[in-house]
Amino acid sequence: MSEKMQPLQQARPSSDPEALVRKACLADVAEMYRIINYYADMQRMLPKTELQLYENLRDYSIVTDAVTADLVLGCGALHIYWENLAEIRALAVDPEMTRKRLGSVLVESLLSEARGWGIKRVFCFTYEPKFFGRFGFTRVEHRELPLKVYNECFHCPKFNSCDEIAMVLDL
Ligand SMILES: CC(C)(COP(=O)(O)OP(=O)(O)OC[C@H]1O[C@@H](n2cnc3c(N)ncnc32)[C@H](O)[C@@H]1OP(=O)(O)O)[C@@H](O)C(=O)NCCC(=O)NCCS
Repeated sequence: MSEKMQPLQQARPSSDPEALVRKACLADVAEMYRIINYYADMQRMLPKTELQLYENLRDYSIVTDAVTADLVLGCGALHIYWENLAEIRALAVDPEMTRKRLGSVLVESLLSEARGWGIKRVFCFTYEPKFFGRFGFTRVEHRELPLKVYNECFHCPKFNSCDEIAMVLDL
């Protein structure tokens, strides 16, 4: 367990929880920061600063469960790029709570949000292609997502050595 990933104060549920997804609020940011950057420290996803989280907070949803109430167990964002295109980003589940379908519930909720906006295509950049493949995402070349590449990847320190896998799902 890294320094950043201190044990949580509240007890964990002993059985599989009933997941509840809601839009993130200001009080969730500290926990979102902790979970995302735990994985970023292991190079499993890109880091986020608190500023980035606050600036884009309205993109984010969080998952809790009936037992732990408001405790953030995972988060993920739907970032709109264009009238027909959005990205699922910063998807992360508390490492003590993985493989309990919380990530799936978050993805389904973000896809439903995208449908609600009338978005036709959702993409992600990920190291977890198998997980996203379960929802029908398929692998594409980065150049098939020029808006992402020109808007964001150009500014990324990993631009010339990016090993994230680009995937798309047509809704
Ligand atoms: C990827 C991640 C979000 C998955 O969340 P999760 O809550 O553990 O996933 P779920 O429990 O919903 O998994 C659903 C199914 O996918 C499978 N699965 C989960 N992670 C998987 C992975 N990395 N590779 C393959 N299958 C995976 C589960 O076994 C489960 O299968 P089942 O339905 O047959 O039991 C979580 O592991 C995580 O936070 N990873 C680190 C950050 C990250 O990589 N984020 C994604 C890219 S930005």
